[in-house]
Amino acid sequence: MVHKDKRPLIIGHRGASGEAPENTLASFGLALQQGAEGLELDIHLSADGEIFVCHDSTVDRTTNGTGEIANMSVEELKMLDAGSWFDERYAGEQLPLLEEVFASVPAEIVINVEVKCPLTPRLQERLLQLLNQYDRLQSVVFSSFHHKVLLGLKQEEPRLQVGLLYRGNFINHRNVAELTGMDIYSLHPYYTLIDAEDVADAVSHGLRVYTFTVNDPVQMKRVYDLGVSGIGTDFPALLKIMLDSL
Ligand code: G3P
Ligand code: CA
Repeated sequence: MVHKDKRPLIIGHRGASGEAPENTLASFGLALQQGAEGLELDIHLSADGEIFVCHDSTVDRTTNGTGEIANMSVEELKMLDAGSWFDERYAGEQLPLLEEVFASVPAEIVINVEVKCPLTPRLQERLLQLLNQYDRLQSVVFSSFHHKVLLGLKQEEPRLQVGLLYRGNFINHRNVAELTGMDIYSLHPYYTLIDAEDVADAVSHGLRVYTFTVNDPVQMKRVYDLGVSGIGTDFPALLKIMLDSL
């Protein structure tokens, strides 16, 4: 049976990264303007212990600089231009701090924070500080391909909402969540790996299914028909048009 009682969340993957430089405030702003109800972003820790939003562990691909984020200071990272590589219109766009995203994104927007770096005590401490300071415990979902990272987060703060990211093809997706022994909030499977039975089974057991990254309208409709709870896309406007047309 397909569960389609709720419209899936429109989740801007790295913002509206098909149309603006990924993981920047400009990209997040555009995604929200286009109707995104959730934002996905990636995090790394700087050498001096601040959390930056960036997909790669280096700044090479998405800024005018080079180097590992883990070896660079806030001052060095903030000097970089994270927009020009995408389009000169975005020149001067900075790598955002996670704090800047929490401070600028409306409270009702779900923020899916994908942890791309190792879970150190400093990262854990800073994440919890920010969640408390910005009252984001209920509106942030942490995801990672490294499920031990999620385990570490849950051990520190059991109330955190965590989601399993994976590209694996399982006989029973919900069982994989149960096998972790954690209270899992959401499954984040690659969109080609799920069928209606997987989704219905997970959803009927209280799991959300946030699939990624769906940029083709035909595939958007396909995962909608499966009954997913959220769809990550680089083109939130396109997804909204598809959902509004139904
Ligand atoms: O949300 C899932 C997706 O972001 C995972 O892959 O490489 O885009 O971070 P990636
Ligand atoms: Ca990601």
